[in-house]
Amino acid sequence: MSTHAATAPPASPAVRKGLPPGPRAPAFWQTWRLYRDWIGYLEECRRRYGDAFTLNFVAIGRWAYFADPGALRRVFQGPPDVFRAGEARTMLEPVVGRRSVLVLDGEEHMRARKLLLPSFQGTHVRTHERTMEAVTREEMAGWPTGRPFRLRPRFQAITLDVILRAIFGVDAADRRERMHRAIGRLLAVANGPFVLVPTLARDYGRLSPGGILARRRAAVDELVYAQIGERRADPGAAQRDDVLSVLLGARDEDGHELDDETLRDELMTLLLAGHETTATALAWAVERLVRHPAAMRRLLDELREEPAGGDYLDAVIKETLRVRPVIGDVGRTLGAPAEVDGHLLPAGTMVAPAVAAVHLDPQAYDEPEAFRPERWLEDSPPGQAWIPFGAGRRSCLGAGFALFEIKVVLRTILTSLSLRAARPEDERPRVRNITLAPGRGAEIIATPR
Ligand code: HEM
Repeated sequence: MSTHAATAPPASPAVRKGLPPGPRAPAFWQTWRLYRDWIGYLEECRRRYGDAFTLNFVAIGRWAYFADPGALRRVFQGPPDVFRAGEARTMLEPVVGRRSVLVLDGEEHMRARKLLLPSFQGTHVRTHERTMEAVTREEMAGWPTGRPFRLRPRFQAITLDVILRAIFGVDAADRRERMHRAIGRLLAVANGPFVLVPTLARDYGRLSPGGILARRRAAVDELVYAQIGERRADPGAAQRDDVLSVLLGARDEDGHELDDETLRDELMTLLLAGHETTATALAWAVERLVRHPAAMRRLLDELREEPAGGDYLDAVIKETLRVRPVIGDVGRTLGAPAEVDGHLLPAGTMVAPAVAAVHLDPQAYDEPEAFRPERWLEDSPPGQAWIPFGAGRRSCLGAGFALFEIKVVLRTILTSLSLRAARPEDERPRVRNITLAPGRGAEIIATPR
């Protein structure tokens, strides 16, 4: 599609030039408000300014938020050279690398996405079921019983181990252990706020944040390249299901194999995009369930009938991702001027579907704040306004993998352990690295069933 159609200002007099209105408070205050209460602040701005509003942030400037379904279609389905997702995510490049599917746009992006897709189709994802179950059982064996502990770090250990086995194909426990440590050290600095500011993320020497990041990345790279080298030399790789082995068998349009740098970048992409997100979603599912005994009872009844989990488990997961979206913002940088919801926005504007506000829209959901999985089982379930994985050609590539993993991990835990909240108050969403996670880490008390 040409960019021309999207850039030409429509003749309609209703179209206003420039960004939508928004709070006048100083940028530091708006940044702080969003940081402290992401979901609440977006919802408050939607109530005050309507479905289109602009927020102004420290270091990253103005973002135009949209919550109207038509506007969202425009942003998600609009020409990819105008609504540029890769450009909007350049701050991830120091970790994922320049060839990552996350940061590419246009043709290059479509080529990268096509190579990854087969590994994330339903039938392929299900080949990892036993691995997901085994990892959960191993992790669960070390959990305390009868006293409070935080589940989210435990879920992070599970999702990282699943990625190292199912995606990186690391069989040896000692290499996985070394990778756990090196990746933990890298993410501790990579997820810090400075990566949002590209000039700070540069390597200015040993003690600068950029320098520390570069050293920790090199330590992870060494292990990842060793894994790629070993798998390349493995004559049995073609029979394996892990994503690295599948990618080693893939050929680009010219019939070439992927080089090591591309493989490294995609593996790190899947790790960054898939590890903490899935762990946070799991933490929220438990945080909501232990505070909604009727939903927990109904789920346990279903699991007794259907140990693999059925429609109610799926509904619990969908409802969790609706009321507690894990990723607060998805963005597109405008590669050319474009009209969205009656606003003619200049090139370079950051356009963001307001995920949390969309999920709490009273026009789309009855009692939008209530955790009610049943709504997904009713005659005409809602659904248009459900975008925890984004939408369109840049939507989450690992959504099927994540939903399946959440299902397997939850059912494995809930059929072995009885869980209750360590404290009765709801946990509030808090920014934790790239996700909005339960403030106390999903603190629970577990006892054997
Ligand atoms: C509950 C867990 C997860 C959530 C909530 C989530 C959410 C998202 C969101 C919101 C996006 C951006 C969509 C957009 O801009 O329209 C995204 C992109 C992406 N996600 Fe996920 N994700 C999850 C798990 C995973 C997993 C498990 C993987 C892979 C192992 C993964 C891989 C990716 C990739 C590769 C992209 C970039 C796609 C592209 O640009 O073409 N995600 N995810």
